[in-house]
Amino acid sequence: MNRDRTVIGVPREIMPGERRVAVTDQTCRKLVGRGLEVLIERGAGAGAHQSDEAYRAAGATLVDDAEQVYAEADVIMKVKEPQFSTAKGRSEVSMMRPGQVLVTFLHPASPSNHEMVRQLAARGVTSLTLDSVPRISRAQTMDALTSMSTVAGYKAVLAAADRLASFVPMVSTAVGMLPPARVLVVGTGVAGLQALATAKRLGAVTVAADIRPAAREQAGSLGAKICDLGVPDDMAVGPGGYALPLSEACLDRERGALRAAAAESDVVILSALVPGRRAPVLLDDEAVAAMKPGSVVVDIAIDQGGNCSATAPGQIVQRWGISIDGTKNIPGQVPVSATRLFAENVFNFVGLLLGDRGLRLDRDDEIIAACLVTFEGRIVHAGALEAMGAAPLSGAAS
Ligand code: NAI
Repeated sequence: MNRDRTVIGVPREIMPGERRVAVTDQTCRKLVGRGLEVLIERGAGAGAHQSDEAYRAAGATLVDDAEQVYAEADVIMKVKEPQFSTAKGRSEVSMMRPGQVLVTFLHPASPSNHEMVRQLAARGVTSLTLDSVPRISRAQTMDALTSMSTVAGYKAVLAAADRLASFVPMVSTAVGMLPPARVLVVGTGVAGLQALATAKRLGAVTVAADIRPAAREQAGSLGAKICDLGVPDDMAVGPGGYALPLSEACLDRERGALRAAAAESDVVILSALVPGRRAPVLLDDEAVAAMKPGSVVVDIAIDQGGNCSATAPGQIVQRWGISIDGTKNIPGQVPVSATRLFAENVFNFVGLLLGDRGLRLDRDDEIIAACLVTFEGRIVHAGALEAMGAAPLSGAAS
C-alpha cells in the first residue's frame, strides 16, 4: 500500500438480496489511471458477475476482510447505507474513522436512517449521499438516482408481467384472439417513462397519468394514451417545472379519476413523487378492491411511503385477488446493468472530490453542498435536519 496515494475502498454489500457493487473492472481501471489505489473486498463483485480476477487485472488490490477495507481506505464507495454486519458482530459505521469519506445512497431524510446518520456524525465521518445529486446538466453523469429509476421502471413491468394471470401482448390463436393487457403508469418521470416504454415493447396498451403537462407530453410520445386527472396545470407545476404537492381536494379528484382508470387496467405501475416529500397516496384500498381479479399493482414509490394504501413495504401481498408489489430494492434484481450505471455515476461523483494533490472537499460546489450529510461531527444535510425536526445549522448544506 502506497501511503502517499488516496485509497478507494469497496466493501462487499451486506444488505440481504443486494447484488450490486460500487465499482466495475472498467471504473476500477479508470480510478487506478487517476493515480488512486483501489482496495476491494474479495467477492464484492460476485452478485454482479464482476470477478476478483477482473478487478486484479484492472489494478485493484483484493483483501479478505471488510474491516481491512474500512481501516485502510480514505474514501469508501458503497451502494447501500451502512448496515450492521452479523458476520463481524459490529456495524459498518463502527468500522469507519474521523475524516474518512463515505459515498453511497444514505436516504438521510428517511426516519429509519436517522440513527445511522447520527452515528456517522458522531464518528466524524464525511458522508455524501448520491440520492441528493441535483438534476442539473453538470451532474447528469453522477445522477445515480436517475440510473436506478431507469432500472426500476423496466424491472417493475417485467415483474408485473411475470405475475399477471394473462398475456401482455395481443395473441391470435386458432380459437380466437386474446386482447392485449392494459398497463396504467401513474407518475411518468424517469421510472414511469421507462415503465411505459417497456410495457409498450411487450405489446401492452399503455395509459399514462401525471400532473405535469411536460411529463404527459413525453408519455404521449411513447405511444401512451393520457388519463385526465382533472388537476389544473397551475396547481401542479412549481418553479423549475417540478411537480407541486396537491391540496386534499385535488388529490381526491385525482383518486377518483385513477379509481376508474385502474378498474379498466390489468397492471398499475405507481411511481409518482414530489421531490423531497412523502409520496402521495393515489390508489386507495377501494380502488384496488375494484380492480379485476388477477391484476397486478407495483408500487415503485414505496421507498418514499408508496402511492397505494394497500402496499406492504418490502413485500408482495395478495388482497381482493390483486397482487400488490412493494419490493424495495428493484435495481438489485438487475445487478449487472444497475452496477454498470451506478459504478459510472459514483466514479464521476468521486472525481468531484479529487484535486491535484488528493482529496479536496469544495463545500461551495453546488453538487457537493447538496449531497453532504455529515461533516466534522455535525449533520449538515437540510432534508435530513428538517426530517429530524431540527432547523438547518448555520453553514448547513441546502
Ligand atoms: P421523478 O421525480 O422523475 O418522477 C416522479 C413523477 O411523479 C413526476 O413526473 C411528477 O410530475 C409525478 N407526480 C408527482 N405528483 C403526482 C401526482 N399527484 N399524480 C401523478 N403524478 C405525480 O421520480 P423517479 O426518479 O421517476 O422516481 C419515482 C419513484 O420511484 C420514486 O419514489 C423513487 O424513489 C422510486 N424508485 C424506487 C426504486 C425501488 O427500488 N423501489 C428504485 C428507483 C426509484
